[in-house]
Amino acid sequence: MDITRIGVVGCGLMGSGIAEVCARAGYRVLVREVNKDLLEKGLGRIQGSLSKAVARGKLPQEEANQALTLIEGTLELADLKDSDLVIEAAVENMAAKKQIFAQLDDILPPHAILASNTSSLCITEMASVTRRGDRILGIHFFNPVPVMPLIEFVRTILTSDETMATVTRFGTSLGKTMVTAKDTPGFIVNRLLIPYLLDAVKAYDEGLATREDIDTAIKLGLNHPMGPLTLLDFVGLDTTLFIADAMFDEYKDPRYAAPPLLRRMVLAGQLGRKSGKGFYDYT
Ligand code: 3HC
Repeated sequence: MDITRIGVVGCGLMGSGIAEVCARAGYRVLVREVNKDLLEKGLGRIQGSLSKAVARGKLPQEEANQALTLIEGTLELADLKDSDLVIEAAVENMAAKKQIFAQLDDILPPHAILASNTSSLCITEMASVTRRGDRILGIHFFNPVPVMPLIEFVRTILTSDETMATVTRFGTSLGKTMVTAKDTPGFIVNRLLIPYLLDAVKAYDEGLATREDIDTAIKLGLNHPMGPLTLLDFVGLDTTLFIADAMFDEYKDPRYAAPPLLRRMVLAGQLGRKSGKGFYDYT
């Protein structure tokens, strides 16, 4: 099966990035948001990112223009009816995702593949509300989507070889490198990343070193592009807490137990870059 039309559900940070890389690879993309405001904001984000890529010499202006002509927005899930692949990048809430999956299962043609960009929720549970378990998987992109070269596929015990072959061709066409993980909370990257980030919060809270020194140590001592506290601010403290809670819920392993400081910062609205303050101040 060849993919030509792609639907993206949700045009937030991840959804807009996914729509952008698909359009840059020449696919027709229809993005669905829940209201006009969010849709306009999301489409604006895509435009901004394409302009940035042009300004940095990563993308010719004509290709950016061409990509923009391939992206359309809608407020109706039913408009995705002609998609060969739909990638759901909506809110990280299982009830909401199951509702979207059940609706799309009715709307989409039988051949269509339905994927979630969830960072930690159970793909099999989403598949359970559809009649197309063999055409369901996780396609997990990384932030910022146009820059990060990895896609993590999450294969359930129902996902067929044919589906894996189709999405592998799709991932290759985006210029990404792909890895495949079983449907377990956190998959590969977050399984290893989350305990590391939680440990960094604990180390900071215990007064091991200043936040700057913790970040500098990892940046220069391990050659990471960002230290863990900067990365927490970048990913979002709420997102990290959500993933940690989902992983703890499933594994009951203290490695995934969120430290009290992380939970309190989220309760206090210190979510990182998106709220203007996290471990660092962005105002
Ligand atoms: N399109 C194409 N290329 C772009 C671009 C765009 N819109 N925006 C930037 N770039 C390119 C730049 O040209 C540059 O390329 P070059 O090095 O070849 O010149 C490169 O991307 C880096 O861009 P910048 O110079 O703007 O920025 P930095 O050098 O400061 O890097 C960063 C920014 C890429 C965010 C880097 O700090 C980084 O890699 N940080 C770690 C990010 C990370 O770990 N992300 C994963 C988070 S976990 C996740 O997403 C999973 C979820 O489930 C939690």
